[in-house]
Amino acid sequence: MTATTAGPGSTGPGHIEPRSTGPARTDHPRTEHPGSESRTAELERRIAQDPGGFRVLTGDRPTGALHLGHYFGSLRNRVRLQDLGVDVIVLIPDYQVITDRDTAERLGEYTDGLLLDYLALGIDPARSTVFCHSAVPALNQLMLPFLSLVSVAELNRNPTVKDEIAHSRQSTVSGLMLTYPVHQAADILSCKGNLVPVGRDQAPHLEVTRTIARRFNERYGPVFPEPDMLLSAAPLLLGTDGTKMSKSRANSVPLSATADETARLLRGATTDADRHITYDPVARPNVSSLVLLAALCLDRDPHEVAAEIGGGGAAALKRTVADAVNSHLAPFRARRAEYAKDLTGVRSVLRAGNERANALAEATLDEVREAMGAVR
Ligand code: TRP
Repeated sequence: MTATTAGPGSTGPGHIEPRSTGPARTDHPRTEHPGSESRTAELERRIAQDPGGFRVLTGDRPTGALHLGHYFGSLRNRVRLQDLGVDVIVLIPDYQVITDRDTAERLGEYTDGLLLDYLALGIDPARSTVFCHSAVPALNQLMLPFLSLVSVAELNRNPTVKDEIAHSRQSTVSGLMLTYPVHQAADILSCKGNLVPVGRDQAPHLEVTRTIARRFNERYGPVFPEPDMLLSAAPLLLGTDGTKMSKSRANSVPLSATADETARLLRGATTDADRHITYDPVARPNVSSLVLLAALCLDRDPHEVAAEIGGGGAAALKRTVADAVNSHLAPFRARRAEYAKDLTGVRSVLRAGNERANALAEATLDEVREAMGAVR
């Protein structure tokens, strides 16, 4: 992701130095991908000019509760795009939960949780679509032609797949894990999504989608858009243990936590020995991630927030962060509690979304069959 891009979700403070690969990173993100900042700005201009020309497809696997990292990294950006007039489709890839684990535990519960979070955050079912992967057979049928368009060598050298294999709970690499980027291509292209908001770590996945779309079109004729990747300007937040905040690592601050739980989780966050609080993401990743979290919630500059805490030490920092998070999330929590009283109504949002996703995917699959000359 690009430093100081006034892009997705960047209603927050300006001078945020993002980290996309966790605390060990020392290279400067700004010089890493020259030109990506202007590409993001250019894409944002096109979206502002013609929001109706864009369809976003993105989603979160139901493997746990969404947390603050998701919120600042992607969720609020989806709402922003929706409010600009983009067709936003949010996928709950329930079928893909078993990519990096043997069984899908608490799938229904996590799916309900995601739905509640989306609605409470402002995803509006009258304008946007939320659907479940397992409910759309036509989407999954795209896998067959798509798998024929990538080589095993390409799949083997995908850096995101390699990283996911390294973090997997499984002792062997399944075919599903290896082909995960192809599944994402099917998700995105089933509804002809042409805009995919992602963090930098997801970029290689999206490259596979673009490659598949291009090769399909070359081989069979023009069916698919080559989706643009909208890089998130939001920085990566660290979990309370100092590693990347993750729904399945027990180091996150879930959006659905109560104010007290939030304060307790943040009190347990790793800091360092220096009592004087500063914002220095490279030298002090843990402290800086907490400062940044407060700054994002307060919509302020992290250097200023750090300076105000100054010699107050980690305890003062954690109090500031907890207060900032809790007041920022208060309206969200109130709405979430209201939705939670009507789970039947909430689930009907998913049913309607599944219906639309099925219609889109069936229409796409028809085009695919026709392009391939398959007679029905
Ligand atoms: N891989 C994403 C995750 O693990 C979820 C996902 C599945 C996705 N299909 C997608 C994201 C397509 C963007 C586009 O959370």
